[in-house]
Amino acid sequence: MRSIILGLAMVAASCAPAIEDAKAEQTRLPLATSPIQRCMNLGNALDSPRKEGEWGYTVRRSDMELLKDEGFDTVRLPIRWSTRMGSAPPYAIDAGFLARVDEIVRWAGEIGLNIIVNVHHYEELSERPDIHERRLEALWDQLAHHYATAPKFVIFETINEPYGAMTVKRTSALNKRLLDRIRQDNPDRWVILGTANWGNLDGLTKSSPPYDPRAILTYHDYSPFEFTHQGAFWAEPVRPTGVRWGSRKDIANMASDLDKALSAQNRFGMPVFVGEFGVYEEVPIAQRALWTRAMREGLESRGMGWCHWDFATTLKAYDLITETWLPEIKAALLE
Ligand code: BGC
Repeated sequence: MRSIILGLAMVAASCAPAIEDAKAEQTRLPLATSPIQRCMNLGNALDSPRKEGEWGYTVRRSDMELLKDEGFDTVRLPIRWSTRMGSAPPYAIDAGFLARVDEIVRWAGEIGLNIIVNVHHYEELSERPDIHERRLEALWDQLAHHYATAPKFVIFETINEPYGAMTVKRTSALNKRLLDRIRQDNPDRWVILGTANWGNLDGLTKSSPPYDPRAILTYHDYSPFEFTHQGAFWAEPVRPTGVRWGSRKDIANMASDLDKALSAQNRFGMPVFVGEFGVYEEVPIAQRALWTRAMREGLESRGMGWCHWDFATTLKAYDLITETWLPEIKAALLE
């Protein structure tokens, strides 16, 4: 008898997660339509270590107007907060820096663009999460409060490309805590949940994101890295140049990755958005354009939104010296 009761208790216990899952399944709404379809990263501006401009780009209102005119609906603003906030409680954000972010956010609203406010290059988090998770939570408490009454064109992104000690599991748990905190002040705002493994597809497919009808999942697609980052000075080790892309096998691999992303979208019940993709500026332009177009069309044909990295620096679509678009990249993105 005792063993029957024990057995029943064990069966009940093992059913509990299944019942929970079924409940969660029932409360899922139909897949939401993401507000982000065509987006540009205003990269290497506010994500530089100290001063906007030191990495070659300062955000200009006129650039955002240009993007809007060309048909982009969103800009992603990579922001390095970690060097512009206190290192001990209450971890206060530098007021002057926040005012600059506010100015760019205001421009987006006036121009009619969505803007993604993210947390970029928080390397200390991936190195010492035991200390920095708390600091990131305090950062999001401040941002969530600060933008609580902002219109819905302001979109949050919890964390960019965690790696190392920020494992897939740890990142999923952190996303849940951050989302819970953000939701206290921002019940309906779109929130993009950052992805571990440097934001790659594997980090997404292996994650267990909290379900939320106003959350968006993301990954970054620079695959194959040996092609997109050949010769890029910041990739360690620097990859050999001369790598070409476009064989039947290359195209099939890209399609297979995009299909995996699409199936993750269906499995998790939240839209997937490719928050970064692009090719290093030194790669021959026809090759850059070929890959960029294939990605963009592959994403659009699957109904997934995208964000090109970046506007005007190392993987550029626009040349700041001539003040003109790179026509091949512009066409690959928009035509
Ligand atoms: C990084 C950039 C880099 C880009 C392409 C981004 O996530 O923040 O610094 O240029 O990836 O490698």
